[in-house]
Amino acid sequence: MDRVHIFDHPMIHHKISYLRDKTTSTADFRNLVEELALLMAFEVLADVPTYDAEVETPLATAHCRRIAEDGLVIVPILRAGLGMVPGFQKLLPFVRVGHIGLARNEETHEPEAYYYKMPPGVEDATVIVVDPMLATGGSACDAIATLKAHGVTRFKFVCLIASEAGIARLSAEHPDVEIYAAECDPVLNDDAYIVPGLGDAGDRIFGTL
Ligand code: PRP
Ligand code: URA
Repeated sequence: MDRVHIFDHPMIHHKISYLRDKTTSTADFRNLVEELALLMAFEVLADVPTYDAEVETPLATAHCRRIAEDGLVIVPILRAGLGMVPGFQKLLPFVRVGHIGLARNEETHEPEAYYYKMPPGVEDATVIVVDPMLATGGSACDAIATLKAHGVTRFKFVCLIASEAGIARLSAEHPDVEIYAAECDPVLNDDAYIVPGLGDAGDRIFGTL
C-alpha cells in the first residue's frame, strides 16, 4: 500500500468538513472541490520531472527548474471529475486535459462509458486521473484500463473521498497506479454510496440534486 497516499493536513481536513456538510451550497461546494484539488495537486506533483531553465533576473542569470507541462495530462472522469480540473489548471495553466465519460448504472453500480477524448501523444505523458469519489472503484478501474488500452503507462489517481473497498480494488487491479485521497471512509451503503461521504458529488457540483 505504499502507493496509497491519504492526506493528513489541517487545511485538507478543514475544507473536507465543509464539503461533507449537507448545508453547503452548490457554489461553495464547487469552490471547495477546486480548492482541494489545488492543495492536493501541490503534493501530487511533488515528483514530476523538471528541466533546467536559465532565466535572466534583473541582476544575473539564475539556474532554475521548470515542470515540462506537456509531459502531463489531466483526465477528469465526467461529470464530477470536471470540478477538480480548475485546481490543477491554476498551478499548471498550460496542462492539457483529456476527458473520459463514465456514468454508474444505478442498479448494477457498474460504470457505463459514453465519451473518450485525449490529446495527441497522451501515451507518452503521465496521466493524472481525477474524480472526487472512489466508491466501489469500478469507474476508476475502467478509466485506467481504457487509458492503458490506448497505450498510457504512467498514472496517478486523485480523489477527494475514497472508500476502503475502492482503494483495495484499484490497488489490486492497477498496482502500478499512485492513489491520492484527501480522506478515506470505511463503508459503502446498499446503493454503493460512500458513508458518511458527501452524497452525489456530480449532483452537488452541478446543482442537479
Ligand atoms: C460518481 C463519481 C465517480 C463514481 C464513483 O460518478 O464521480 O465517477 O460515481 O463510483 P464507483 O467508484 O463505484 O465507480 P457517477 O457515475 O455518479 O457520474 P456523475 O459524475 O456524472 O455524477
Ligand atoms: N458517487 C458519488 O458521487 N458519491 C458516492 O458516494 C458514490 C459514488
